[in-house]
Amino acid sequence: MRGIVYTGEDVEVTDQLSLGNPGPTEVRVAVGAAGVCHSDLSVINGTIPWKAPSVLGHEGAGVVEAVGSEVRSVKVGDHVVIATLASCGTCRACSTGHPTWCIKTLGNVSQPFTYKGEPASNFAATSVFAESTIVKEVQAVKISEEVPMTSACLIGCGVLTGVGAVLNRARVQAGETSAVFGVGGVGLNVIQGLRLAGASRIIAVDTLASKEGLARQFGATHFVDASTTDAVAAIRELVPPGPARVTGALGWTGGVNWSFDCVGHPAVLRNALDVLDWGGNALAIGIPPQGTEVAVDVNSLAYVDRGLLGCRYGSSRPHHDIPLMVELYLSGRLMLDELVTERRPLEGFREIVEDMEAGKLARGVLTF
Ligand SMILES: NC(=O)c1ccc[n+]([C@@H]2O[C@H](COP(=O)([O-])OP(=O)(O)OC[C@H]3O[C@@H](n4cnc5c(N)ncnc54)[C@H](O)[C@@H]3O)[C@@H](O)[C@H]2O)c1
Ligand SMILES: [Zn+2]
Ligand SMILES: [Zn+2]
Repeated sequence: MRGIVYTGEDVEVTDQLSLGNPGPTEVRVAVGAAGVCHSDLSVINGTIPWKAPSVLGHEGAGVVEAVGSEVRSVKVGDHVVIATLASCGTCRACSTGHPTWCIKTLGNVSQPFTYKGEPASNFAATSVFAESTIVKEVQAVKISEEVPMTSACLIGCGVLTGVGAVLNRARVQAGETSAVFGVGGVGLNVIQGLRLAGASRIIAVDTLASKEGLARQFGATHFVDASTTDAVAAIRELVPPGPARVTGALGWTGGVNWSFDCVGHPAVLRNALDVLDWGGNALAIGIPPQGTEVAVDVNSLAYVDRGLLGCRYGSSRPHHDIPLMVELYLSGRLMLDELVTERRPLEGFREIVEDMEAGKLARGVLTF
């Protein structure tokens, strides 16, 4: 079987993979398409430590090709989006509707593959950079066959993460103001989530001026090129636009209700805090290397109700949110097709990575 294997230092496109049959509560999925998320690159460059050899890819959709004896919710032939959360379904987190807090969902590694005859691990409980993969029943969420695979796959990470951050974690209210740092696959989905929520201002920030068109297409009302402009000063200037600018006791007023770090760099997260209005909250979505710290004047939070929130996988509940994303897409309110800027077979993985790093892509998608 063909797939992309992380070897510990690099990746290899191989046809030396094999996969067994699903266990009683598992599903084997023939992968139809897989998006390349920055988190896959973060495994390769060491930002996210992971076992090797392992099969990468965690943003995918496909067709069920075999089910375990106890599986009831999907059958052979169903189209599914694969969620990365192999949640247990019985713990306190799962029972209160927070599968992203389920202790079984982080760092759990199994070895459904062999690579050159030796056991190989999965990644993010998913591994969709392979012709087939095995996931838990809870991870295979049935969708309409009307959604093309190349669009459906993006729901599996970038869309749930970005739109979910706005709707589930921040719960942005109509009319609120916002800033989004990083206009990649995740940031674009934060932007369209903010559009869906009715945010009045959506200020997109990127270090590549070429991202402006995409940002505006997805709903940004303003764009700041952080390579030539002080993004913090520019955002404070934009919101709110009062005739008289009053400087408060803490040095500034103005700024947004919500900011989103979709880059994963401490300087960006600090900027995301510095652009908040009183009462505003910043969401840390991007993932820097382990141990990364950000310094902040505690009084700038404590005196004026500012906050910093982490957000994993859009705080999503896959069996609620994936059907919702499909419904919004089919009714023309969620852009998925427009996110797909490049399609290549597995052998084109390196070209997608190069184009992603050059800032040419919304999302690159591998097809099978
Ligand atoms: N929390 C989660 O559950 C979750 C889920 C998916 C991805 N992620 C993380 O989110 C981050 C973004 O992922 P992606 O797939 O959108 O990446 P991407 O590579 O598609 O996009 C990143 C964007 O950030 C821009 N950028 C880089 N440095 C910048 C800076 N200093 N200021 C402003 N913009 C800058 C790049 O030009 C690019 O447009 C990664 O760290 C990824 O690991 C987190
Ligand atoms: Zn991802
Ligand atoms: Zn659980």
